[in-house]
Amino acid sequence: MTTAFDFTPLLRAGLPPPAVKYTGLPKYNFTGGNNDSDELPLDGLVAAADAVLKREGRTLATYGLASGPQGYRALRDFLVGKLKRDAGMTCTADDILVTSGSLQALDLVNGVMLTRGDTVIIEQECYQGSINRLTRLGITPVGIPLDSDGMKMDALANALDELKRRGIRPKYIYTIPTVQNPTGTILPESRRAEMLRLAGVHGVPIFEDDCYCDLIWDHKRPPALHAMSTSANVIHIGSFSKSIAPALRVGYIVAPWSILSRMLATKYDAGSGALEQMVLAEYCAPHFADHVPVLTRGLRKKLDTLMESLNEQFGTAAEFEEPKGGIFLWVKLPENVDTLKLYQPALQAGVAINPGPEWSVNKAHSRSRMRLCFASPTHDEIRQGIAKLAEVCHREFGVPVHISNVAR
Ligand SMILES: Cc1ncc(COP(=O)(O)O)c(C=O)c1O
Repeated sequence: MTTAFDFTPLLRAGLPPPAVKYTGLPKYNFTGGNNDSDELPLDGLVAAADAVLKREGRTLATYGLASGPQGYRALRDFLVGKLKRDAGMTCTADDILVTSGSLQALDLVNGVMLTRGDTVIIEQECYQGSINRLTRLGITPVGIPLDSDGMKMDALANALDELKRRGIRPKYIYTIPTVQNPTGTILPESRRAEMLRLAGVHGVPIFEDDCYCDLIWDHKRPPALHAMSTSANVIHIGSFSKSIAPALRVGYIVAPWSILSRMLATKYDAGSGALEQMVLAEYCAPHFADHVPVLTRGLRKKLDTLMESLNEQFGTAAEFEEPKGGIFLWVKLPENVDTLKLYQPALQAGVAINPGPEWSVNKAHSRSRMRLCFASPTHDEIRQGIAKLAEVCHREFGVPVHISNVAR
């Protein structure tokens, strides 16, 4: 019998723990940023793939197609129009770098800007993928509290002043201003103007992550910070993950060439997947604007089902503010509930939740909070999953005391 080769002594120091093998999705999955599979525009994507491959498929023989290293030209052209129409942004195809999801965009921005020991400003409740990246890089994140209008500007001003007093110039202000993850808030135009003013005064650039900007119930959004800036101090990133499909892995960066050129020089993968870019461009140019309202109508209905189910099962024990769009509900449970401890027993009952502390840099504030994604479960799964979650939470923490007026 041969023994398996042992790689362990050859591994470099400081690696994260090994990945856990995939064992399938939980029955009631309220985690992750998955989308609604029923709303995926499958026929349109099939037709787009067929048309673009028949017309231009032979360009796949060349790295970067015939478009150069910044991504498929037709997709960047589509983005130029979309960003102008929806976010008020003025940019050209040369200002855009297509990436493998916006996670790669986060890595590229961080890669050219951050050094161990640096400080950045972020929203106190924030995307786990962004927080984890900062932790891994040895960066100090300063979390700014949010209210129902997103990041609080008085708190931002205080934090910037305090850092200045200590001789620290943060590398950037990272914000998800348009349907924030996890809180679902939208930063109003006046706060955007104030953020830009503060950024200007302190000489700090803004890193704007507009991942969920297409998923707004009333389709009304303020201009992007990138659009409002008069000093080209905003790096803007976006994604097709939430508007079309996350598994495609297509995102983008819009930034001045002075910084985009530095990121492009560190994008060592010889280009992001070209077929996805081709299909997206072919589909989106004629259909994106019609697809988005269909998608958001479906998502809104699921949010209603989730809020109804929580009210029914948890009563006043579950507090939340209705998000203005997106795919997440940020829920507050009573103080005695520790959602990190709720996680395992809930999972054993088939219900996966995102515990609040993983989505916040203020662990005490988020201890009894959780994030629920309502996009991927069906309406029935939402109802059944929340009923199961209430059962488990009652068993573990005595919360809720009553469910549907029935004492447990
Ligand atoms: C705020 C935010 N930014 C970026 C991402 C990364 O998305 P993707 O790499 O799929 O574009 C996510 C995913 O959930 C997110 O929530």
